[in-house]
Amino acid sequence: MDTLNLSTAHGAPVGDNQNSQTAGRYGPVLMQDVHLMEKLAHFNRERVPERVVHAKGAGAYGYLQIDEDLSELTKALPFTKPGEKSPCFLRFSTVGGEAGSGDAERDPRGFALKVYTEQGNWDLVGNNTPIFFIRDAIKFPDFIHTQKRNPATHCKDANMAWDFWGLTPESTHQVTVLFSDRGTPKTYRHMNGYGSHTYAFVNADGKRTWVKFHFKTRAGIENFTNEESRAMVGNDPDHATRDLFDTIAKGGTAEWDVQIQTMTEEEAATYRFDPFDVTKVWPHSEFPCRTVGSLVLDRNPKNYFAEVEQAAFAPSNFIPGIEASPDKLLQGRLFAYQDAHRYRIGANYTQLPVNCPYMARSASNHQRDGFMYDGAAGDAPNYEPNSFDNVNEQPEHKPTPMAVSGDAAAQARDYQQDDFIQAGDLYRLMDDGEKQRLIENLAGSLSQVTNKDIQLRALCNFFRADAEYGGRLAQALGIEIPSHHG
Ligand code: NDP
Ligand code: HEM
Repeated sequence: MDTLNLSTAHGAPVGDNQNSQTAGRYGPVLMQDVHLMEKLAHFNRERVPERVVHAKGAGAYGYLQIDEDLSELTKALPFTKPGEKSPCFLRFSTVGGEAGSGDAERDPRGFALKVYTEQGNWDLVGNNTPIFFIRDAIKFPDFIHTQKRNPATHCKDANMAWDFWGLTPESTHQVTVLFSDRGTPKTYRHMNGYGSHTYAFVNADGKRTWVKFHFKTRAGIENFTNEESRAMVGNDPDHATRDLFDTIAKGGTAEWDVQIQTMTEEEAATYRFDPFDVTKVWPHSEFPCRTVGSLVLDRNPKNYFAEVEQAAFAPSNFIPGIEASPDKLLQGRLFAYQDAHRYRIGANYTQLPVNCPYMARSASNHQRDGFMYDGAAGDAPNYEPNSFDNVNEQPEHKPTPMAVSGDAAAQARDYQQDDFIQAGDLYRLMDDGEKQRLIENLAGSLSQVTNKDIQLRALCNFFRADAEYGGRLAQALGIEIPSHHG
């Protein structure tokens, strides 16, 4: 190993890294000890704000390999070069806890994928659930407040969580997933990932097809019971982070089958529910999952802070061939993430190696300056149009036009909005053991609600999903239900 001279951040040699300078052997410390000042000052700045959600996480590099030529559906590069490996980075996370919280908590798991392509970075910022609690971004800050800490007590608060869920019937489906076995995955390797939203595939002729992305774990789904997850939170809050790192460090991989569901624009126009409503799945029987390739993680980051903490994923990071859908929650997310990155990391966060579109040989535009600007653009012009550089628009990559009609207004969709059918479908497909554990997990949480009205209102949503589901939950809570509820 090379011998290196210990130096200050400015490169000057450090003579003593053990003793601070003092006035006399027993006197106070001197201001002229600039090495000490620099060391303490840098230490004070070692943290960036943690992510407002998904603060605890782990990540790894690997590749996305699509084995079929899907150019009839999309011109997106990874889907048109069968067998080619597109490098990627994936960050897993829990949602509600702080950066030091337990990996085993009952919570959705984040599944944030960044694929580095020659036409830019494509981010698919998904979860381990195919659906979400709400369908309109305007509710997200309220929802997350109920998952975080009570503003007075600074404790997690079952009254807040169940008050919001009870008053938000569209959450019943995702709440059912959350309190099922899948709410406590055994590791990040033993769970599926889902893009969750409907996205648009667009082919070279400009034809749009709606698409959902699924990643099915090759390790098989494995979950903790509630008791196992509680014990793991206490015994090893970092167990899933360690599992991912150790698996890869030992030469292993984490792998998923990549699947897509597709729906034509014509099918979407007449579908019986809103195909852009993220609180619902597209039933497999009508829109079968097609396996198209692999997602493999096989390389650990070297520096957690640089590569995982500073990783920045945004649903708005599209590449030609993949576009947004009119999903109202997705539309809000198209704003939220890059705004979070500019706040959390800084305006030039895309210069960091993990975020940089290096396969596209870096970004070419006229944005400049700001904190920590690397100056890579040198003396090139910083405005457009100009008479000097050769940075050109590519009209073939304009967003695909989409017809709209009606009034601009704050309004709900007038598709059928049944919030309970699929929650009931999910309950009914569970075997007896899964149903029993779901009821116990829900009752364990709902029994912490001290406000009876909140408890009853929340309970009602489960009756609406399935009378047996509600009835068994009421029984587990010791609540008498009038006979007309069946
Ligand atoms: P299917 O019977 O074809 O699909 C059921 C799917 O449910 C399975 O393929 C599996 O999804 C998933 N699943 C199985 N057990 C559980 C569980 N304990 N917790 C969460 N998910 C589970 O029916 P449909 O497609 O008509 O869907 C019925 C219900 O299944 C939906 O309301 C939804 O709640 C759930 N589901 C549907 C998905 C979809 O994309 N259609 C995806 C995931 C869940 P997977 O193969 O993804 O592991
Ligand atoms: C992280 C907002 C819904 C998955 C975040 C962050 C914000 C945010 C601000 C922190 C980003 C950062 O600091 O880097 C929102 C809003 C939503 C929403 C406003 C709804 C309107 C969703 C949904 C999913 C999701 C539906 C999954 C389908 C994630 C993941 C992360 C994240 C995985 C962590 C990314 C990482 O690993 O860095 N979200 N979110 N979010 N969100 Fe969302």
